[in-house]
Amino acid sequence: MAHPQLYPLRVNPKTREPYLQLPSPHENIIITPPRLSDVPEIVKNLNDFSVYKWLSGPPYPYLDSHADEWLASLRSDCDMLLEELELAAKKDPEASPIIVGGCPVRTLREVRADGTEVFLGDIGVDRCGYPDLEASFEKERLIEKNSQRLAGDPEIAWCIGYYLAASHHGRGIMTAALRTLISEWMIPRMGAHLIRAEAFKGNAGSRKVFEKNGFTLEKIVDFTRTTQNGQTQQGMYVLLWRS
Ligand SMILES: CC(C)(COP(=O)(O)OP(=O)(O)OC[C@H]1O[C@@H](n2cnc3c(N)ncnc32)[C@H](O)[C@@H]1OP(=O)(O)O)[C@@H](O)C(=O)NCCC(=O)NCCS
Repeated sequence: MAHPQLYPLRVNPKTREPYLQLPSPHENIIITPPRLSDVPEIVKNLNDFSVYKWLSGPPYPYLDSHADEWLASLRSDCDMLLEELELAAKKDPEASPIIVGGCPVRTLREVRADGTEVFLGDIGVDRCGYPDLEASFEKERLIEKNSQRLAGDPEIAWCIGYYLAASHHGRGIMTAALRTLISEWMIPRMGAHLIRAEAFKGNAGSRKVFEKNGFTLEKIVDFTRTTQNGQTQQGMYVLLWRS
């Protein structure tokens, strides 16, 4: 499976999956494609208040069926990207790495000394959906315009969503994972120039993870909104990163 178009992803000879590895002191943590077998861990994490309280998307309670559906969609996106890379390698084995419209790895896993891998969380990149804006024609226009831009267009506003198992909070893991994702993949392989991050007001940990990676606070939007999981949120930080 290893071919030059995967660069800088490495391929695990055991699982045959591509992966990114976090730098020291977190070299035992890798980012891989999602696996359909991740369902129980995802369900556990997304029913944990310290994780879901800051998330807007996942329903609560989070059921196996939600995870099944979510993973099937993520797998299909990751597989499509990997196929695109493989096709490019077959077409021209000497070609420089192409620019693609996403990242084929997103699941954080801790590799234990005995080689077993433990699911730690998720870090995904997507086109920005401007969640700070209230539903309007202008919001729809922005989303539509952003989604129609071709891969590699420097004007694409990307966004990043993430969560980490509570057992591993506060060890610098997500700061390192975000840094790795941006520097190893989003800049060189997606041509990313603009990332817009959104976190609910009060989510000091998430805001800090972004700021430690060079994002600056663009604005704080005030609103009262009840999310899918029943939490009432009082606003949102919007942070920007530009290359
Ligand atoms: C947000 C989250 C991903 C942070 O991951 P993490 O690996 O624990 O973060 P880090 O350890 O890299 O912390 C980065 C900085 O934020 C600080 N921080 C982390 N959690 C914090 C919290 N709850 N309150 C205040 N500061 C916090 C850390 O102390 C660190 O700052 P320092 O280097 O100055 O000490 C994690 O807490 C999480 O999964 N939260 C629930 C889901 C979530 O909020 N997702 C993001 C939605 S926008």
